[in-house]
Amino acid sequence: MNITLCLLPGDGIGPEIMAQAVKTLDRVADRFGHAFTTTEALIGGAAIDAVGNPLPAETVAACKAADAVLLGAVGGPKWDAIDKAIRPERGLLGIRKELGLFANLRPATLFPQLAASSFLRPDIVARGIDVMVVRELTGGLYFGEPRGETEIDGERAAYNTMVYRVSEIRRIAKVAFEAARKRSGRVCSVDKANVLDVSQLWREVVVDVHKDYPDVELTHMYVDNASMQLVRDPSQFDVIVTGNLFGDILSDEASVITGSIGMLPSASLGVANPGLYEPIHGSAPDITGQDKANPLATILSVAMMLRHSFGLQKEAAAIENAVSEVLTAGHRTGDIAAPGETPVGCRKMGDLVAERL
Ligand code: IPM
Ligand code: MG
Repeated sequence: MNITLCLLPGDGIGPEIMAQAVKTLDRVADRFGHAFTTTEALIGGAAIDAVGNPLPAETVAACKAADAVLLGAVGGPKWDAIDKAIRPERGLLGIRKELGLFANLRPATLFPQLAASSFLRPDIVARGIDVMVVRELTGGLYFGEPRGETEIDGERAAYNTMVYRVSEIRRIAKVAFEAARKRSGRVCSVDKANVLDVSQLWREVVVDVHKDYPDVELTHMYVDNASMQLVRDPSQFDVIVTGNLFGDILSDEASVITGSIGMLPSASLGVANPGLYEPIHGSAPDITGQDKANPLATILSVAMMLRHSFGLQKEAAAIENAVSEVLTAGHRTGDIAAPGETPVGCRKMGDLVAERL
């Protein structure tokens, strides 16, 4: 296949992990006879520094012109004090919105080789962790209007709006039920329907969409309970479907119980535009430029991309197997190394995966 990719390395460790993803792509191209043409564009702090805008119009155009987008990470302390309208994060939120990427798939799977890195008790880990968080990505509290600053009784105040339309809930619920059909057939919808109006509508609509999926089991959980159940017994979950904010929080939690946030890939999908693939972790300013980052979440995002955007099952499986073999051979970056183990660097980890491809 001839595939055009837009690469958005972004900030912090973004460029380091992106370089390892490119290494992986080069190997896949050689081994399976594909041609990847890549363009690179600015996003986040890097774009602010270069052109004063976290999401330049050229970046949006480059993404739309590609078959898929691969992103590193955005943000960092350097831009913390900046006008909030042009924070680096606005670049990421903006590109999700521009491309209509409403469905964010975040699979939290435990590599058995990393069982010892999990923060959970061995008997809990032994039951297995294989959770797919389906996070709504272009609505909810992140985008709701009105938002902003105001004054209440002469005092400064700020507010956001958590709002969902029926159509937004329907389409993400469908994605979750479809995903469950390909997995263990169970969806847990997470909300705060005991308090929030928006969650009551969410629950009502999810129940309605479920009528088309009688073969899938549907349960509901309040978000506070869900965050507790995820550490108490993650094996009870198959697909979790939830709104933007709850999904952001629960996916970090789901990732770290599998060992490290440095392992989790994600796919952001819409209807018409190219999908965007990114690790769920951030730009890790504390280890930037030190060759310490774990590139595996980004490499696994490449696998998700090949599978979801291009139907390249064999190629995706080859990447996942290569990662698994590297872990079996005992190689670990700092975030997944056991105390006393000598970690390998980011570049070395990329090389090890490429060698096994
Ligand atoms: C994520 C990140 C982003 C989010 C930030 C960087 C805007 O935390 O992808 O989970 O909140 O969605
Ligand atoms: Mg997050």
